[in-house]
Amino acid sequence: MTKYGTFPGARPRRLRTTPAMRRMVAEHRLHPADLILPAFVREGISEPVPISAMPGVVQHTRDTLRKAAVEAAEAGVSGIMLFGVPEEAKKDAAGTVGTDPDGILQVALRDVRAEVGDDLVVMSDLCLDEFTDHGHCGVLDGAGRVDNDATLERYAEMAQVQADAGAHVVAPSGMMDGQVGVIRDALDQTGHEDVSVLAYTAKYSSAFYGPFREAVGSSLQGDRKTYQQDPANLRESMRELALDLEEGADMVMVKPALPYLDVLAKVADAVDVPVAAYQISGELAMIEAAAEKGWIDRDKAILETLTGIKRAGADLILTYWATEVARGL
Ligand code: PBG
Repeated sequence: MTKYGTFPGARPRRLRTTPAMRRMVAEHRLHPADLILPAFVREGISEPVPISAMPGVVQHTRDTLRKAAVEAAEAGVSGIMLFGVPEEAKKDAAGTVGTDPDGILQVALRDVRAEVGDDLVVMSDLCLDEFTDHGHCGVLDGAGRVDNDATLERYAEMAQVQADAGAHVVAPSGMMDGQVGVIRDALDQTGHEDVSVLAYTAKYSSAFYGPFREAVGSSLQGDRKTYQQDPANLRESMRELALDLEEGADMVMVKPALPYLDVLAKVADAVDVPVAAYQISGELAMIEAAAEKGWIDRDKAILETLTGIKRAGADLILTYWATEVARGL
């Protein structure tokens, strides 16, 4: 046979011949412990409310949230990330219920900790958008702009009440400058030295958050482009990363996942802390919608995206499919 370069000596297909062979040479494997379940809990409901743009995902009651946490733990999922949805009438410009010890998120943190103890890492979204009537991640100044430094004061209070309520990890997602440092300080000054900060380090202003806005009943006025990053930028994420690490981030996150795998890969290469990626609401919606139309194989598509996110460098993946996928692994 004619030789072409190393062919026919080199035949990469030899390592793809059987399922056992492919399994043996797989470079990356998903494990239930890689997965973190984001979950919504809504105040004042007696039955879970389905989220139409997120098939299979619900706004939990306090009771069903507890059950979901237990199921996640039993499936081997390592963490749960809680988002609180207060009664509409309780939202105000300052997001007051976000720092009320009896606000829905704090109540849910206590519920889940009481249920799972330390068997699951209990995390809380640290952001104001679920609690403000204008839907922004911070408080506004006189001109209606998100006021960075005034917002930091609110975040410091949130960190304390969330840690008091039992969060093992707080996850600031508002993209305010200085948020990680201010939160670290607030935790240390209130006896919560052991509570970790998972920083949303590279968080892009994304069209794929759409379904989440329904999930938290957000009535966002305008957009988040003055605080979330422009999808065109990669280098900027490395700057955000350096700042977050200097401010004391214990873990860093890239969000969304699929359209930003290059960012994830670059961040993962650069750090010595755990790296998380968030497969967000719109990423779920795309796959569920295409599968519903019979256009793609849902289960295979889910595993392929999660494997891709892991291959790109994520140690941890937040996914609404966490429990289902963990059970199947
Ligand atoms: C902000 C926050 C958002 C998400 C997680 N935390 C919304 C936003 O930034 O607009 C989105 C998660 C998802 O889309 O699944 N609190």
